[in-house]
Amino acid sequence: MAQKVEKGLFITFEGPEGCGKSTQSRRICEELRAEGYDVIHTVEPGGTSLGQNIRALLLEKESIELSRKAEILLFETDRAQHVEQIIVPALLEGKIVICDRYNTATFAYQGYGLGADMEFIKKIDDAVTGGLEPHLTVLMDIDVETGLKRAGNTGVADRMEKRDLKFHEKVRAGYLDLAEKYPKRIRVIKVNDGIDEVYGLVRKQVYDIVERYKRSE
Ligand code: TMP
Repeated sequence: MAQKVEKGLFITFEGPEGCGKSTQSRRICEELRAEGYDVIHTVEPGGTSLGQNIRALLLEKESIELSRKAEILLFETDRAQHVEQIIVPALLEGKIVICDRYNTATFAYQGYGLGADMEFIKKIDDAVTGGLEPHLTVLMDIDVETGLKRAGNTGVADRMEKRDLKFHEKVRAGYLDLAEKYPKRIRVIKVNDGIDEVYGLVRKQVYDIVERYKRSE
């Protein structure tokens, strides 16, 4: 059963490593707040205190072996807490929720990237989210090598960043495939230009949906 939260606006940012989604999502939050919108910015994994512990396990503690199913379930455990504790309450208060990564990441990384069973992911994810889908997903698409280089400049590589190029190529192709399957929700932005040019494109996508939401209130 799809969980329908009638209020609020749910926007997610996705993309391969180093696509710059956090910079862009934080900037759009600031602009919306400056205009008086009630906005929260959050992340997966790690949007709750349980999630921060799970994030450390998933990304930093690479010496701990993880099976594919265990990896999926940890991302979904993070999501279960996040949806219930942060996302749904904020939507019910009529807020705009902007989230760096959500369930599309599990399909792209664990499904396409690791080759995990999509049906398994779907079943668990539906149970965890109650079918709650974003109104808009901004997919920032970047060439994998460029993205990994950019991500590498910002600190020590984590479990995901250390996976090989082939894995990351599959993740990127997966994201693009999902965008073709869900063209109304997932909007692709090519990260070829400078930060400001990319921001212009992000801004247009976000404001289109915010304006529509405002009119429907
Ligand atoms: P980020 O904060 O840089 O986006 O790092 C989160 C990492 O976790 C990134 O490599 C993508 C990965 N991830 C998954 O593999 N599956 C998921 O479901 C989510 C939410 C993230």
